[in-house]
Amino acid sequence: MTRNKLGINNSEETLFKIQADIEAFEKDAALYEEKNCDKRLDAIDFLEFHIIDHIESLIEKTAQTNQLSLLKQWAENIKLALEAIDNNLFKKLRAHIRSNGCTGEQFKKLVGKYIDFDADGSGHEEAGYDNLDVFFNGLLSFGSVPEQTKALEPEMVFYQKTPTRIIFELVEKAYITKNDVFFDLGSGLGQAAILVNLLAGTKTRGVEFEPAFCNYASDCAAQFNLPNVSFINVDARQADYSDGTVFFMYTPFKGEILQDVLVLLRSESLTRKIKIITYGPCTAQVASEGWLDITVSNNDNIYKPAVFTSI
Ligand SMILES: C[S@@+](CC[C@H](N)C(=O)[O-])C[C@H]1O[C@@H](n2cnc3c(N)ncnc32)[C@H](O)[C@@H]1O
Repeated sequence: MTRNKLGINNSEETLFKIQADIEAFEKDAALYEEKNCDKRLDAIDFLEFHIIDHIESLIEKTAQTNQLSLLKQWAENIKLALEAIDNNLFKKLRAHIRSNGCTGEQFKKLVGKYIDFDADGSGHEEAGYDNLDVFFNGLLSFGSVPEQTKALEPEMVFYQKTPTRIIFELVEKAYITKNDVFFDLGSGLGQAAILVNLLAGTKTRGVEFEPAFCNYASDCAAQFNLPNVSFINVDARQADYSDGTVFFMYTPFKGEILQDVLVLLRSESLTRKIKIITYGPCTAQVASEGWLDITVSNNDNIYKPAVFTSI
C-alpha cells in the first residue's frame, strides 16, 4: 500500500477527499436558497456523476464497503434534499403560470430569476443538453414519461427532444410573435409547442404520430392552463395546416414522408407566406426546395436551427 507524506494511505486519502466534497455541499448555504437553481443543478450533477458514481465504482473494488456505503447514503440524502427544493420550485412556478397566464417577457423574467439563458441562443455552438434542459424538463413534466406504443415506419424518426436553448433561439431568430400559429411537426412530449407558447404568447399546435406522447403533451399543457396550445394525434401527412404560419421540424421523418409533408406545406404557401424552421439533418432536404428562401442559415451546422420563408 502506498503512503503519502503524512503517512495516509491512498484509499484513506480518497475517502477523506470524498468526505470533504460531500461536506462542502452540505455546508454551502447558497445551494439551499430557492433562487440558486443553476448552482443547485451543477451540484446535483456533481453529486450524481462524480461522487455517487465514484463511490459505487470503489465499492466494487475495495473492502471498505461500510464506510463507502455511509458516504454514498450521505451524498444521496443531500442530492434528494436539493432535488426537493427544485421540485417545490417547479410546483410553485406551475401554479403561478396557471393562475396568472404568464407568457412572453413576463415568462422570461419569471424563469430568469432561477436559471441563466441567452434569449437568442448565442454563445452555444456545440450540440447537447445543459442546465436549461434540466430546468425545463422539471418544469414541463407530467409524471413518468410514457413508452412508445406504435411501431414507427422506417422513415419516421424516434423521439428525441430539441435542446431547450434551440427553442429560445428559434423564437428570436424566426421572429415568432403572438400573431403566428406555430406547428411542431412530430411534437413528441410537447415541450417545443408549450415553450414557444410561453415564450412568445403564440398559438401553438403539436402534430404527433404516437398517441401516448400526444396524451402526455396535452396533460402537460393542461397543468399550466394554456388554452392556445393543442396536440393532435395524427400522421403529419394527414394533418390540417390551414391556419399555420410557422412550421418547426426537428427531423421528425426523412425521405418520402418529408417530401410528402413539404408538398402539403407548399400548397399552404400558395395562400400566405409561411416559415419553416428546421433542426438536425432534415435541413439539407428542406434547403433543396426551390419555393423556399433561406432567411437564417445554420452555416452547415446541423445542430443550429435554420429558417426558411416561402417565396
Ligand atoms: C426527433 S423527435 C422531435 C420531438 C419534438 N419536436 C421536440 O422537439 O421535442 C421526432 C418525433 O416525430 C414523431 N413522428 C415521426 N414520424 C411522424 C409522422 N409521420 N407524423 C407525426 N409525428 C411523427 C416521433 O414520434 C417523434 O416524437
